[in-house]
Amino acid sequence: MAYTAAVITVSDKCSTGERIDTSGPAVVSMLKEAGYDVIFSSVVPDEQDIISAELVKCEHEIGADLIVTTGGTGLSRRDVTPQATKAVVDYEIPAIPQAMLYFSLQITPRAMLSRAAAGVRGSSLIINLPGSEKAARENLSAVVGTLDHALKMMAGGGH
Ligand code: MTE
Repeated sequence: MAYTAAVITVSDKCSTGERIDTSGPAVVSMLKEAGYDVIFSSVVPDEQDIISAELVKCEHEIGADLIVTTGGTGLSRRDVTPQATKAVVDYEIPAIPQAMLYFSLQITPRAMLSRAAAGVRGSSLIINLPGSEKAARENLSAVVGTLDHALKMMAGGGH
């Protein structure tokens, strides 16, 4: 059976309609291509409490195995997605953002400006991606092939 996924776009401008969200749909289509059943997607503003609540909703109410955010990982005052993620995970998985960074640095040195986090809450794996469609696609492509093994281990499966 396919793993389920939820995608959250974090962007003030997309949440008000001032900008069209292309990153969220790009992540949805990449996850579908990788075999995930994408059961939920949403757009929220760059507000830490709202992002945390949306993550908890995706884990607790929606029951998504994988929760992917795009946006808000940079250095502006409004970029709070990593803080919102770290506030709700049971534990972090530092090597997932490290793998994305390793891959992305071969494309652009600006990759070092993302503070993306990853971790586990309950039975959900949460991963942050940067906000531009290009950056979201590149970062997800670095790790998407390994995530099903992580989900299998989280469910108690062996190697
Ligand atoms: N990673 C990849 N692979 N490609 C990119 O173009 N852009 C970087 C970085 N990571 C980028 C990338 C830039 S310019 C920024 S500011 C950070 O992601 C954070 O982006 P965010 O604030 O939209 O989340």
